[in-house]
Amino acid sequence: MGIRVIGTGSYLPPKVVTNDDIARSLDTTDEWIFSHTGIHSRHVAGEGESSATMGAKAAQAAMDAAGVKPEEIGLIVVATSTPDYNPFPSTACLVQDLLGCVNAGAFDLQAACAGFVYALEQARGFVNFYPDKKAIVIGTESLTRVMDWTDRSSCILFGDGAGAVVLANDEPAGAASLKTTARTILGADGKGAHFIARSGGCKDALPFDPVTGVPMKGEPVLPAMSLQGHDVFAFAVRSLAKVATDLCEQKGLETEALDRVFAHQANARIIEATARRMKLPLEKFWLNLETTANTSAASIPISLDQAVRSGKLTDGMKIVMIGFGAGLTYGGTYCTWPNL
Ligand code: UT7
Repeated sequence: MGIRVIGTGSYLPPKVVTNDDIARSLDTTDEWIFSHTGIHSRHVAGEGESSATMGAKAAQAAMDAAGVKPEEIGLIVVATSTPDYNPFPSTACLVQDLLGCVNAGAFDLQAACAGFVYALEQARGFVNFYPDKKAIVIGTESLTRVMDWTDRSSCILFGDGAGAVVLANDEPAGAASLKTTARTILGADGKGAHFIARSGGCKDALPFDPVTGVPMKGEPVLPAMSLQGHDVFAFAVRSLAKVATDLCEQKGLETEALDRVFAHQANARIIEATARRMKLPLEKFWLNLETTANTSAASIPISLDQAVRSGKLTDGMKIVMIGFGAGLTYGGTYCTWPNL
């Protein structure tokens, strides 16, 4: 069987904010938002909730589904652009503590909305060489905390939540990768780094003079997200369709052979355009952003979990998971579910 997903889980915070709620304080309408994005509402992390607590809940659900104990986990990879701290300690270490995974290494991975696909590949490599250990891959985001809530073209797009999978391997060390039928493509285009950005990192920090201890001159930077929607839209449609088509080509498959496509849930129009480019019916694409909005690195594992629990993702299905995001990053994995 080799490397496979043995459990999925997800968590969406109970607080829901609709487009109409947002329209009370912003010059927008439910009609505009839904017709341009496919979004009606989003979940929003409440008091006491964070990327770490939501990630831990999703991971616990995945461990329960897999029947795995915390001590069996050897690695926790958390894909997030909204870590609890900026940037350390990692959110993964907080999750490790919350779950009691005392034998696990833990680290965060930042590849924005493509983060889950990147993280899955890291964990796949780990269990390939340490088959006695299991790995948890988590995508978790509290993006509503970093929005500019006066910018109607970006704040309406995002929501909070988390998704997770547990990976196991029953082949000897190194053997699974030689037999795998899965394929992954990871890519980046740093020329588009300014298309989606959030300042407030070390580049923009106000440093102290190391000799005098006096703060150097400058203005603190407001850490809110900026987004060039048109440029991101065009990149998304180009990269999602190309990654999925290339993965099929590498497998010697026509795209029609795919049973399901789990694309990053950024905008329904992006997914529709991707379906058209791939000449696939939209019914093959998982769509949940009407009620989740864009949950960045969490969107693909939330979708996987919803599909598994509703019986719409079953063993033997040929699927691709495809994502794109800030960086710019993109990537995809083809597999015959649940084998990696
Ligand atoms: O995970 C990756 C994260 N990023 C993305 O996924 C973003 C991808 N891009 C998109 O989803 C779309 O580009 C947006 C939804 C952000 C914008 O949609 P659009 O169809 O490209 O709209 P636009 O930017 O061309 O704006 C059209 C008009 C503008 O008005 P004017 O200048 O034509 O008078 C905007 O000011 O719509 C206006 N507008 C709005 N009106 C009402 C922009 N946002 C809103 C709004 N409500 N929320």
